[in-house]
Amino acid sequence: MANSAVIGSQWGDEGKAKVIDYLSEKSDIVVRYQGGANAGHTVIVDGKKFVFHMVPSGIISKDKICVIGNGVVFDAEQFLCEIDELASRGIDIEKRLFVSDIAHLVLPYHKIIDIAREEMLSKETGTKIGTTGKGIGPAYSDKSVRCGIRTGDLLDFDLFVKKFSEQYNEKKKMTEQFYGKKFDLSLSQTIENYRNIAKKITPLLTDTAYFLFEQDKKGKKLLFEGAQGTFLDIDHGTYPFVTSSNTSVGSVAAGSGMAASKISEIIGIVKVYTTRVGNGPFPTELFDEDGVNLQTIGGEKGATTGRPRRCGWFDSVLLRKSVQLNGFTKLAITKLDVLNTFKKIKICVKYEIDGKITEQFPSCVETFAKAKPIYEEFDGWQCSLDNCKSYDSLPKNAKIYLNRLKELCFGVDFCMVSIGPDRSQTIGM
Ligand code: IMP
Repeated sequence: MANSAVIGSQWGDEGKAKVIDYLSEKSDIVVRYQGGANAGHTVIVDGKKFVFHMVPSGIISKDKICVIGNGVVFDAEQFLCEIDELASRGIDIEKRLFVSDIAHLVLPYHKIIDIAREEMLSKETGTKIGTTGKGIGPAYSDKSVRCGIRTGDLLDFDLFVKKFSEQYNEKKKMTEQFYGKKFDLSLSQTIENYRNIAKKITPLLTDTAYFLFEQDKKGKKLLFEGAQGTFLDIDHGTYPFVTSSNTSVGSVAAGSGMAASKISEIIGIVKVYTTRVGNGPFPTELFDEDGVNLQTIGGEKGATTGRPRRCGWFDSVLLRKSVQLNGFTKLAITKLDVLNTFKKIKICVKYEIDGKITEQFPSCVETFAKAKPIYEEFDGWQCSLDNCKSYDSLPKNAKIYLNRLKELCFGVDFCMVSIGPDRSQTIGM
């Protein structure tokens, strides 16, 4: 059976959780493989809202197994909050949720350093990254520098205490001496807290790469749930205004241990306009009434930080780069209904950079920052999509808009169009 990966094609917040919820009906196992609690995946089922940061959003489907792979930076405290919340809402995770025993932990000192570094950048350069403050960068840094602590270290708590105490002292020094901030973390209290956390987490720890290998051999269908979006990729995104993991398709294999050759369907989630949280260049960003309307109608507020998202028109130059990087086999179109009231809608088709016209996304962020969008304009459809049950039944102008969008994205076929937040407001194709 075909295994699928679901990847955000823009700067995140494309509506991945809804697509994963929809696709998980046809899957057996949902796997997260990168990012951490910086992700905010919102799903609405029968009017009930669920927000996940650590747990794969597939957990709502009661017969699905969920896996947190090795490439995720694992925030155990956040994870346990979500498990408690799920239990209080009658969703049982028993024997359906597994955590890699080699995933790196996000520990309280990572969050302290994340925030301290942002404050320092802001003070000294005036240009902070605008991180979520969830300790993501510092946790991935420790992994790369090879001083990270992994979930499996919780299995031998004395070893965890030894490693944690060493890191605690190093991070305290770094925070106080380099960032000039108070290190507000008690060693003994944190260790006691983690003693309790370890009791709850260790039963879930698994060699998830082997587990997935076995399940695939048995013919189970795996769905890989990406977090963030392609242009937050540490290599291919708008560096340094990116997250600290690879968010494009390359990380599916590394972050789950599943062989790349086993992933045959790569679904790009495409929002019909563009948003971005945090800092960094954004050529189609709108500062007018249209931008405000996209933000309010689209409910464009970060699920993790509550920050308003910056909004702009659809950028096909960005999307073509995303198709190129990820090799999308299908596109899932989201939030079409947000455009219902617009009289005119625009798509950026090219950039003007230093007086030259280009259709190519520039790899260097300084060049990208100079890009001015060149638009095509479309008439809006100005009606509700509530009664549309098929692609054909969409209003004529909506189809003109979507057909052009598809053409600009190398003709990749759509697998669904979302016309509202609820599971039922989905046109499958
Ligand atoms: P970090 O991942 O918290 O280090 O933040 C780095 C950048 O990625 C910031 O601009 C964040 O706003 C952005 N970011 C991180 N996670 C998400 C997400 O799930 N959606 C959208 N933006 C995100």
